[in-house]
Amino acid sequence: METPNQNGAEAHIKVSTLNCIDLSNPDIHQSVSLLKQACLDCGFFYVVNHGISQEFMEEVFAQSKNFFRWPLNEKMKLLRNEKHRGYTPVLDELLDPDNQVHGDYKEGYYIGVEAPEDDPDSEKPFYGPNVWPADGVLPGWRQTMEKFHHEALEVAKAIARVIALALDLEVDFFDKPEMLGKPIATLRLLHYEGQISDPSKGIYGAGAHSDYGLITLLATDDVMGLQICKDKDAKPQKWEYVAPIKGAFIVNLGDMLERWSNCIFKSTLHRVLGNGQERYSVAYFVEPSHDCLVECLPTCKSEENPPKFPPIRCGTYLSQRYRDTHAELSVYNKHQT
Ligand code: OGA
Ligand code: NI
Repeated sequence: METPNQNGAEAHIKVSTLNCIDLSNPDIHQSVSLLKQACLDCGFFYVVNHGISQEFMEEVFAQSKNFFRWPLNEKMKLLRNEKHRGYTPVLDELLDPDNQVHGDYKEGYYIGVEAPEDDPDSEKPFYGPNVWPADGVLPGWRQTMEKFHHEALEVAKAIARVIALALDLEVDFFDKPEMLGKPIATLRLLHYEGQISDPSKGIYGAGAHSDYGLITLLATDDVMGLQICKDKDAKPQKWEYVAPIKGAFIVNLGDMLERWSNCIFKSTLHRVLGNGQERYSVAYFVEPSHDCLVECLPTCKSEENPPKFPPIRCGTYLSQRYRDTHAELSVYNKHQT
């Protein structure tokens, strides 16, 4: 397949074939088996018939564009806060410091679970009120994003039930209050400017990384860009494109699930290469509650295979990962009014 990348070195990158989980399939054993195979192999799969309409997805993308087309100084007024809500400018994030010269050539907007300031849980690092554009400037924007947030969480819970079965757990294992009953779930709108990435120069739309949480649901427009590396230790690393499928989510496992499953399930390295075309995507990161202790599952350890990681609180783990990958907020002080 001829890739859109114009630098010769990467001219023939393969396109990955991923399993596809149909959430409307009444044969749950078939879904569990397809999902399990995908989780053991590469930690990426497609999900279709998830219940979010194509029409509504188009509205989410249209509203995302409505925001990103604003001038930078207006977007900077909604700069992310210490709770990780709001706008993240180009280069704010540096996902792969060993291979990137600058940060990621993408801008984003974080929207979390809305918790009022007087909610006792708003003490916690990932709960609190969202940052929203002022009323009336983007009609319907907040409603669209809240509706998507809500619907995507239901999709994530449905996928988590299949994952639980694939790990020989009770079907509702991830539905418990400390798990997805009170999740840290973050919607992130993303916009990649039309810049051509150049791995040989350390320039990427998004540097190589694995996601931090349980799972991520990703919707993209039809511009190719996402790549996965099934074996991060291979030298040289082999990268494959993941093609967008209309109406499907690309779902990948995060590092918390890798810890939970004692590395039986994989959180796979991925990155985004720009091909000169603008690209929009919508990521939905799903993590359990702040207090959830992520520790090796009973079905994933044995005497011969003891736990590889110590237990860790979700909130602690996540705070550390965000600190490692995002710029200090103080670098933006000069922009603030
Ligand atoms: C991410 C990510 C991929 C994309 O935000 O973690 O991997 O296609 N995004 O935007
Ligand atoms: Ni990612």
